[in-house]
Amino acid sequence: MTLIERARAGFAAAYGFAPAGVAFAPGRVNLIGEHVDYNDGLVLPMPIAAGTAVAWSPAPGAQIDAVALDFGNARDCFEIGTATPPDPPEWRSYLRGMTVCLAERGFAVGGARLAIAGSIPRGSGLSSSASLCIALGRALTAAGAIASPPPTELALAAQAAEHGWAGVRCGIMDQMAIAAGQPGHALLLDCRDLAARQIAMPEDWAVLIVQSGVRRGLVDGHYNQRRRDCEAAAAAIGVAALRDATAEQVDSAALDPVVRNRARHVVSEIARVGAAVEAIEGHDLAALGIILRASHASLRDLFEVSVAPVDALVEVLNRAIGAHGGARMTGGGFGGAVVAVVPAAQVAQVSAAVRADYRLPDGSAAEVLRV
Ligand code: GLA
Repeated sequence: MTLIERARAGFAAAYGFAPAGVAFAPGRVNLIGEHVDYNDGLVLPMPIAAGTAVAWSPAPGAQIDAVALDFGNARDCFEIGTATPPDPPEWRSYLRGMTVCLAERGFAVGGARLAIAGSIPRGSGLSSSASLCIALGRALTAAGAIASPPPTELALAAQAAEHGWAGVRCGIMDQMAIAAGQPGHALLLDCRDLAARQIAMPEDWAVLIVQSGVRRGLVDGHYNQRRRDCEAAAAAIGVAALRDATAEQVDSAALDPVVRNRARHVVSEIARVGAAVEAIEGHDLAALGIILRASHASLRDLFEVSVAPVDALVEVLNRAIGAHGGARMTGGGFGGAVVAVVPAAQVAQVSAAVRADYRLPDGSAAEVLRV
């Protein structure tokens, strides 16, 4: 059964009739530009096939009824405008948040019945929560017979839901990648003004995702702490955001050593995004590989968001790939997935190396997914 069929069947089972439609939003994998979106930097994410499907039907009044098919058919039922944020945050936070944040942006949705199904492993760094928010935004506006909001509006509503209802002060990368990304393309996004350009990925390259098996929660405080470190660095240097700082400014400002390392990562990572786009457009996978490896080292040593199993998996991949491409952690860090870009002709060899040389924490072999 496909994801869409699962959402449709779950809806029929919960409510006793067929849904009027099914909305979908993908997940995303970030090729490069990690922890720079909330510093107004440049990022290069791609949508992936896995995502979230929300089957919907309009309902009278302002009543929302929802069933979460992946959480044992857990339900939520509330009147729009009266919902409160669950504590601790969970799937209902995003649903309730999206009804409020859409209205705040001028998309006042009405009553709906919803059934939610997803195929992105949670805590994998592939943006299951942003995918959920964008799919909910599409379903709720469709049920309210509201013309589809522009991708930027949907993305900003989803980001506001994450900030206000889940307590994560995330950037805008995930929401924009999911709302505006196109299959087979990376989205070069300027997180300051949201200008975006689609970058076609060469057809003889393969983008691979491998799960480390270590699950991460963004809500654990590390993420917000990194953001505070970056804000402290920008304030000490005297710029609006680290996007505006140079490497020399970071080196010479009076900064706490840890905060200086965070800023060094951000400034160098933003430069790497520009270099990565040049490498892709110049069809130079060897150059891209070197940039991906440098990004990983910076996230591990300066930004300190990697963990030992992720480092080990990146190592296995980079050894198998050799000089023909590269691998790095992707997403917020502290576990989750690794991304690799390799020649399409090398996928089987790299996959075999991962199966042979990396073990998930439960002892099983890792799976290699091609985007
Ligand atoms: C998470 C956040 C994004 C971004 C990445 C790190 O995915 O949601 O906004 O900051 O981490 O690049």
